[in-house]
Amino acid sequence: MTPATASPTASPNAAHAAPALSVRELRKTYDNKVQALKGVSLDVAPGDFFALLGPNGAGKSTLIGIVSSLVNLSEGSVSIFGVDLQRHRDAAMRLIGLVPQELNFNMFEKPVDILVNYAGFYGVPREEALKRAEVELKRAHLWEKATVMSRTLSGGMKRRLMIARAMMTQPRLLILDEPTAGVDIEIRRGMWKTLKEINAAGTTIILTTHYLEEAESLCRNLAIIDRGRIVEQGPMKALLAKLDVEGFLLDIDGTLPAQLPLIEGTTLTATDDHTLDIEMPRAMDLNRVFAALGDAGIRVRSMRTKSNRLEELFVRLTGENAQDGTAQTPPEQVA
Ligand SMILES: Nc1ncnc2c1ncn2[C@@H]1O[C@H](COP(=O)(O)OP(=O)(O)OP(=O)(O)O)[C@@H](O)[C@H]1O
Ligand SMILES: [Mg+2]
Repeated sequence: MTPATASPTASPNAAHAAPALSVRELRKTYDNKVQALKGVSLDVAPGDFFALLGPNGAGKSTLIGIVSSLVNLSEGSVSIFGVDLQRHRDAAMRLIGLVPQELNFNMFEKPVDILVNYAGFYGVPREEALKRAEVELKRAHLWEKATVMSRTLSGGMKRRLMIARAMMTQPRLLILDEPTAGVDIEIRRGMWKTLKEINAAGTTIILTTHYLEEAESLCRNLAIIDRGRIVEQGPMKALLAKLDVEGFLLDIDGTLPAQLPLIEGTTLTATDDHTLDIEMPRAMDLNRVFAALGDAGIRVRSMRTKSNRLEELFVRLTGENAQDGTAQTPPEQVA
């Protein structure tokens, strides 16, 4: 990372209520012609805890690399708290703290030195850096390890040290690229706690993750990125509500009546004269639905799971076996 140089100069368009991060129509084509980002737009509100979810190769690290100035963008724009990254790079960079995926500190230095030297690199005077290092090491539960050789820290401690280091410049936006990849659940939970504290103290956080559980436990908003495009974006709660709904396509014997029956808790739509689209809570009993349809004179010949883009995406993300969405036979009673 490049150290910031001149004193902060607010961009002319830096508004008080500007998004912490605003990305518009971002495209990235690498030298080998791989189009890693194909027009990504997103806003992250100040104070938000935001997750960027996506499978391997989706473009998450590319996006983070561009935002933190490690990767050049091909097209589009990025601003951080209203400061345009391309026009005011140093000022924008001073607002960001980055925790890269790989451990990249000197294992033969002591945590306190790693923190103080890092801050010095960004122009923080030594005395002030020492004060900040104490605050950050305490927050990361590493104070008693301040002067041991970093090599001797546990895996989880090393990860927390990476976060403490990024916090030394007092960033308004903390960006973490898969901070918990490959760490066990106990360490992960400890890190979640640290991150929640940092966010509660006012720092906006964006993280990338493969773990839906992590996003669920930490984040208020999220975007799902797949093959260089945002495929879903919004509040975590709204997304989880969607995931509790299951959709089927029912092939009907004969033609559907003009007036479809009302079945409580479900949404029925005729896609054509003999195909019924039904959405229902995952926990709902299908037999009850078939019985109600039967009462209305609708006989189901066969059914298919409606392919759910989000679900498929999550299935891939969480590594479970994909449902293939092929024809299923309806329950005995109605077949
Ligand atoms: N330096 C590079 N040069 C060429 N292609 C690259 C480079 N970095 C990434 N890519 C390609 O860009 C695409 C997006 O990669 P990126 O690392 O952004 O994905 P990701 O979402 O971070 O994946 P992961 O979850 O595996 O970390 C992939 O096809 C990748 O091979
Ligand atoms: Mg990555």
